Formats: sequence, structure tokens, C-alpha cells
Amino acid sequence: MKRRGFVKLCAGAVAGITASPQILARDNQQYRRYERVSLVDPHSHDMINVSLLEVGETYLFHYPYVSTPCFLINLGRPVQSGVQLKTHDGQRYRWQGGAGPQRSIVAFSAICAHKMSHPAPTVSFINYRHDEVRFRNSKDAVEQRSGVIYCCSERSVYDPASGGRVLGGPAPQPLAAIELDYDAAGDHIYATGTIGGEMFERYFSSFHDRLVLQLGRTDIDRAMTDSTELMRLSDYTSNQINCEA
Ligand code: FES
Repeated sequence: MKRRGFVKLCAGAVAGITASPQILARDNQQYRRYERVSLVDPHSHDMINVSLLEVGETYLFHYPYVSTPCFLINLGRPVQSGVQLKTHDGQRYRWQGGAGPQRSIVAFSAICAHKMSHPAPTVSFINYRHDEVRFRNSKDAVEQRSGVIYCCSERSVYDPASGGRVLGGPAPQPLAAIELDYDAAGDHIYATGTIGGEMFERYFSSFHDRLVLQLGRTDIDRAMTDSTELMRLSDYTSNQINCEA
């Protein structure tokens, strides 16, 4: 993929999208549309049934590139759209909210917005914590709440029910959100794009050699097409590091 940096402004429908994201205008803001990719079972390769996703479980898939991990979580309660957020360079955007039959399914890039800690097969310092956990909030006070994404590298904490906004720690912006499209007729779900502060270019350059070894391929920045496997984080990584304040 040689032309990832190519950007085309467009307000209408787009056909023939390849590896390069296209920045689309929507509600006076921009989001990046990548390939529309279905989430499938890693063993049968059947499309997953969204209604069977367990509440509070952390699922992992790779999108929009073969090496970029994302979290998918069923929060167990409807999550409304309309949360206004801002990237570290001041770009404002509005998160789409939850997807699925209960609007409870959310997905985010699992690359921490601080120094890009991310899940790997050997270890994951960034994890979803469905049960109550203590952390230091943005006022450096100890707070306790459930349902947070906690990066134990330097203790950035994000709220997946509010578009991945930062609750505490050094992260300068929310996690980039993955746009989901729910097919109610089939009870299937697709990843379609991202909104928020992507860090993929820095991620590829910072972790290039390790990712090549890990994946056994050199095209770590190849776009996902057609489908991507959805698995439990516990099946992907052998060691989840959990911490609290
Ligand atoms: S890399 Fe996540 S808090 Fe620093």
C-alpha cells in the first residue's frame, strides 16, 4: 500500500475504496472510510451473530490494517451517539455511539493514545475492565468506576461509553473510534471506518520490525478486506496486565 497518504475530500457515496482511507464529510465533520469488513468467527469463518456477544467480554479484531488491533465490547446497555470529542490537534468530532440491537456494541483502536501500547500475543498492557477499578482521574484524584479501558503502561484510562474519551492519565486524546454498521436482518456487524485521532503511521514506523516478526509478513500496513477475525482478547494474548490506583 503505497498511497495511504492520498486523501480525497468527498461528501457523497464512494465506490471502489482500496487501501487508502477516504475522508468523508458528515455532519460538518470528517471521518475516514476504509473497506467495509465483516467480523467473523476465527474457526468457522462464519459471520458472527452480534446477539451472542457476551456483555463485558473484551473482543479483539484487526482493522483497518492487518496489524492494527481494535477492541470490541458489548457494554450491556445502550450507548447514545452525540458525544463531542476533540483530537490533540484540536479537531472536533462526534462519536456515533453504540451499534447492534441494543446499541451497546462499541469498538476502538486498541493502540493507546499516549505511547501506543497495544495488545500483542505475548502481553497486553491495555485492557477493558468491566468490573469496578480504581484509577487517578484528570484531577489526579482516585476515582472508582466500572467499564473503562485501562492502559497500565503509564495509566491512561478511557471511557468506552463516551467515545473513548480520556478519564485520566497522560493520553492527549481519546482512542480512535471504529465505525460499525449493524445488519439487523442477519444480526451481523461490519467495520467501516474510523473517527478521531488515528496513530497508524507512527505505529507502523515505531513497531515495524516487531510486527513483521509477529505477523510473519512484511506488508504490515496492508488494508483489511472482506472480513476480519473476531476473538476474545484472552485467546489472543497470553498475559493481560491489569493494574489500578
Ligand atoms: S502507552 Fe498507554 S498510558 Fe502510556
